[in-house]
Amino acid sequence: MPDQVLVADDGAVRTIRLNRPEKKNALTQPMYEVMTRALADAAASDAIRAIVLAGSPGAFCAGADIAEFLESAQTGGLRPKTVAFLHALARNPKPLVAAVGGLAVGIGTTLLLHCDYVVAADSATFATPFSRLGLIPEAGSSLLAPLRMGHARAFAMLAMGRPLTAAAAKDAGIVNEVVDAASVDETAMKAAQDIAALPPGAIAVSRQLIRGDPDGVIARIDTEVELFRKRLQSDEARAAFETFLSRKK
Ligand code: COA
Repeated sequence: MPDQVLVADDGAVRTIRLNRPEKKNALTQPMYEVMTRALADAAASDAIRAIVLAGSPGAFCAGADIAEFLESAQTGGLRPKTVAFLHALARNPKPLVAAVGGLAVGIGTTLLLHCDYVVAADSATFATPFSRLGLIPEAGSSLLAPLRMGHARAFAMLAMGRPLTAAAAKDAGIVNEVVDAASVDETAMKAAQDIAALPPGAIAVSRQLIRGDPDGVIARIDTEVELFRKRLQSDEARAAFETFLSRKK
């Protein structure tokens, strides 16, 4: 089986690419583990000055794997690798660029709130159908999204599950640049190289000042994790997962 997350360094830029296109890059526990390690190694390396998070053509990430959700619901709702990844993401000290070549669902959208520069295909869509799945927002998004886009838009997206187009995501402050799908990776790499060419000490301090203290974000992540764990075991969530997994196409 090919690696479901590919990690490659090109000069000072590390690319972490989701590579499970047959499942639209839905994230499993082993995938979270690889991403966490790639972030931690980058954090410890002076050679890496920027990170690009990328997916496949047409699919950035379809969110967490719903079959795994069902499985973890049956075993107490614990998702240790997800939590480790979310902590690593919130504490990651390196500038993070996202290349969103298509759909971004659930954590595929909420992780973008931890990125510093987001390039999206004009065909990309951003959706957080948590409520429909009997779930709640995660990845610190209940804190970060209202700060980024205001309560009205955050509620429509996170609670009502209304999707955003690429243009709306740009308007909401999630996305920096909207380009045609074929140019997404190249544009994101150019942004990462631009960042990597700047003095790393100045970039690191600027980023810290702009993002603020991660402790508050980590605390919110942990609160969400506990509530999410309970929601995973709810009848509402179980029914929604079973409906998705047994749907006829
Ligand atoms: N978990 C598990 N499998 C998933 C998945 C997910 N989050 N998202 C997609 N897949 C699987 C599909 O089951 C399908 O598998 P199959 O070919 O073995 O049946 C495959 O990926 C392709 O998905 P498909 O639904 O055929 O593609 P699409 O382009 O028609 O739709 C989505 C793409 C993302 C809109 C749709 O798959 C979807 O709604 N997925 C669930 C997203 C979600 O709710 N994520 C969790 C958020 S908290």
